[in-house]
Parts: sequence; C-alpha cells; structure tokens
Amino acid sequence: MSTVTRVNEAETCANYINGEWSVPRGAERLERRNPADRRDLIGYTPLSSREDARAAIHAAGEAFAAWRSTPAPARGKMLLKVARRMEEQQEEIAALLTREEGKTLAESKGELTRGINILEYTAGEARRLTGETLPSELPNNFAYTLRQPIGVAGLITPWNFPIAVPVWKLAPALVTGNTVVWKPSELTPFTSRRLVELFVAAGVPAGVLNMVHGRGEVAGDEIVSHPAVKAISFTGSNPVGCLILAKAAAQMKKVQLEMGGKNPVVVLADADLELAADNTVSGAFGSTGQRCTATSRVIVEENVADRFVEMLEERIRRLRTGSGAQAGVSVGPCVDEAQFNKVREYLEIGKTEARLVCGGNVEKTAECEDGYFIAPTLFDHVAPEARIAQEEIFGPVLSVVRVKNFEAAIAAANSIRYGLAASIFTSDASRVFLAAEQLECGMVHINSPTVGGEAHVPFGGIKGTGYGERETGSTGVDFYTELKVVYVDYSRRKRESKLY
Ligand code: UN1
Repeated sequence: MSTVTRVNEAETCANYINGEWSVPRGAERLERRNPADRRDLIGYTPLSSREDARAAIHAAGEAFAAWRSTPAPARGKMLLKVARRMEEQQEEIAALLTREEGKTLAESKGELTRGINILEYTAGEARRLTGETLPSELPNNFAYTLRQPIGVAGLITPWNFPIAVPVWKLAPALVTGNTVVWKPSELTPFTSRRLVELFVAAGVPAGVLNMVHGRGEVAGDEIVSHPAVKAISFTGSNPVGCLILAKAAAQMKKVQLEMGGKNPVVVLADADLELAADNTVSGAFGSTGQRCTATSRVIVEENVADRFVEMLEERIRRLRTGSGAQAGVSVGPCVDEAQFNKVREYLEIGKTEARLVCGGNVEKTAECEDGYFIAPTLFDHVAPEARIAQEEIFGPVLSVVRVKNFEAAIAAANSIRYGLAASIFTSDASRVFLAAEQLECGMVHINSPTVGGEAHVPFGGIKGTGYGERETGSTGVDFYTELKVVYVDYSRRKRESKLY
C-alpha cells in the first residue's frame, strides 16, 4: 500500500484573480482525495461564490484593451514559454495529475505532451492570424478581412484531461487577444493551479488569465450568465452543455460545446483481428474509459464474433488495475465515489441486458482496496438499443454488439445520440471510404483506436456531442475571433454604379 503523504499540509487551493492568488473568504470547501488511495488527502477545492466569479470577470474585462493591442507574436511567445516550462516540469506535473485524477503516469505524461504540442502549434498561429484580400466588382476597390478578439472568454473544463483540455481552450483564446475566466473541475484544482503557475511564470499580465474554483451551478453559472462574458467554451456532459447553450442564447453569446461520446469500433470479418483486438482494448480501457473518445462499443460481424470476443477477453484479463503511480499498471481508478457508483450501477444494468464475459465487479485485489477500482469489464450479445450500448458510462466497460454485415454495422454504429469518434477495422478499401462517409461522427479512425487527436487537427463531434466550431487546429483559433470585413475604395470617385 502506498504511504499516506502530506495530510497535514493539505491546503485549500487558491483562485487566481487579477494577478493575485487568494482563497475566497468564507467559502465552503470540497475535500479532494487521491482516487487510488482514499487515505491520501490532497487538499480542498474552495467553492467560490458568484461574487468571486464576478471579480474575475471584472478583472478580465479591465485587462482586455491592453491585451488585445499587444502584438500577436508577443502573445505567441508567452505560449512558447509555457510550453518550455511544461516540458521541464513534465515529470512533476504528471505525478500530481496522476495523484489527483488517477490516470497512469504514462497517460499523464502523454497528456502533458499533447498540451506542449498544442501550445507550440498555437504559438505559431500567432504569426498566422491572417485575413483575406478580396477583389471588387468596381475598379480601384477591394475588400479585406480581419479577425478580432471577442472580449472576455469563459472556459469551463472537466476533470478527465485537466491539462490538455484547458490548454486547448486557453492557448487559442489568449493568442487571439481575448482575456479569460476559467473554471476548472472541482475534482482537479491542484493540477489546474500548476497550469496557471506556468502562465504566471511566462509573464501573463494581471487580469488576462483568471481562474475561479467552484461548482458549475454557482461559479460556472455566473460565468455563463454574466453579460460581460462574450464567448463560452465548455467541455463536459450533454445535459450541462444544453443548459449552457440555452442560457447563452438569451444573450447571443458565442458558444462551443464538447460533450459526451459512445464511440464504436466496427470490426469486419476481413480485418486483421489481432490488430483490431489490441486497439479496441487500448481504446476502451486506457484512461480507465474516462475519456470522451473512449471506445465503448464493438460492432463485429457475427461470423468472426466468437473468435474476436475470445481475443478481447484474453487481452482484458491481462490488464493490471491499480494505482496509476505504480509501474506496470494499465488501468487506474474511477475519479471519485460518484463516478465509481455510477459505473457499478451500469454493471448491474449490463448483467440484466447482456452476457457478462469478464469483470462486472469492483476490483478486489489487495492493491485496490483503498481506491475506486472497477475490474475491466466486457459484455457480449449487447443489443444496439440496450442501455449499456446507448448511455455514456465513462468507465472501464466495453459492449460487444454482433451484426450480420457491413450495412448493419454502420446502422448500429449510428444508432446513438452522440457522434464524436468511430473506428473501422477492415482490409477492404472501398468499405473504408464508405464507412468514412457514412459514420455519423466528427472523427473517423481507420484501422486505429477511437481515442486521441493531434494538436493541429480539428477535434470534436456532431449530434449530441458537439456544438460550434471544432476545437484545436485552425478552427480552434477561429472560434475565439470575430470576422470583420473592410471595404476599401481608393478611386476618389463618386460611386456611379450601385453595389447591391
Ligand atoms: C481525447 O480523448 O483525445 O473530455 C481528449 C474529453 C475530451 C478530451 C479528450 N474532450 O474526454
């Protein structure tokens, strides 16, 4: 068992408002413990009031004029400094991320690498915030476009990627000249604080980046409702995203939402089954399945289904569950008790709907007794409309849906409310392209897992998953700007023909 550390040092995580660190006065606080070892108290998240959030919004509003007129390349250089410090401190931040969120150290390091890549890419975008020049219907006229910052951006982020997701919102928001109020998840306050510290060390001016800890219903709601916040970028659940969209609509705010997933892997009979099994298991159980791009359904042609299920089972039984800080562990804990209980409920639902192949319970090994561990679980003969095939579980649970042929596979893959990522494993080139065209989602992977994405490539989904411009890549930058058109007439002549 790991030793209990730093209990006496447990502190309340401070907000960062207008260049000052401060614990909100009189705030209730939420205890945060290591999900792999509940005896390890990390500290407390303050539950900030609406007033605290308003102070942050005010600071961001005051800082906007100076930040928008700072040359974009200078804003970009600040991101590069953050990237360099993140690289230097990668091990230490990864250890904190693992302690607070639970994913394995390798996964934490991978997440930080993704953050570094996004910072580097976005820093480069600082020198490419270009517009277009457009010819005119009239002589000695032309038009051009400008991309301008929106103002104060409100960012609300989840616990499962406490570095990469905030970075992919903060970097484009700041490089384009917006100022920010950020509410991180109340489950990962200390990792969030480390990220702000990197920006502070890189010289972010007071008021440009503000962080307020607290509940979505209070601090988050104030950010969404306050008229001075002009754009909202949210990653989290679909019901919360819908609430945010409705509130923001009343004030015509710009909104970007990235919500749930129920991502399928389609395995056709002609696939390399070994490759498909390896990638399905890594996509389903990596990050303990607590990932919006996690694989949660395998849709397999029935003539290879028995063999494929055996291959999955064999791999799943080899996974070692335990503290993400331990070498050799590939599946960490659920992030907290609520998530743990939710996954356990789905295990019971699954047992009534389908055939349990392996797992199906709390992980009972000695190294797991003090954490929120679920044994990696596989269900077979799951109907496409079963609850475990329809609802986002966000845990180490995989469902096998058996189908007759390719057409039925695509239909089953699409029969959900979400549309984030999908994979297909096949050696038939025409089916690859048909699937890429027909799968209802934002990202299709060919012969590779559903998870992951690259820094310069747009990320996001359709249907109940995504709303607004895609994050990361050039579209991620576009979201944080407004397009302005400028018509220029250098003819010095009275307009003779009319422009309609
Ligand atoms: C990824 O899976 O590539 O909340 C990153 C999430 C996503 C981020 C995941 N928005 O899981």
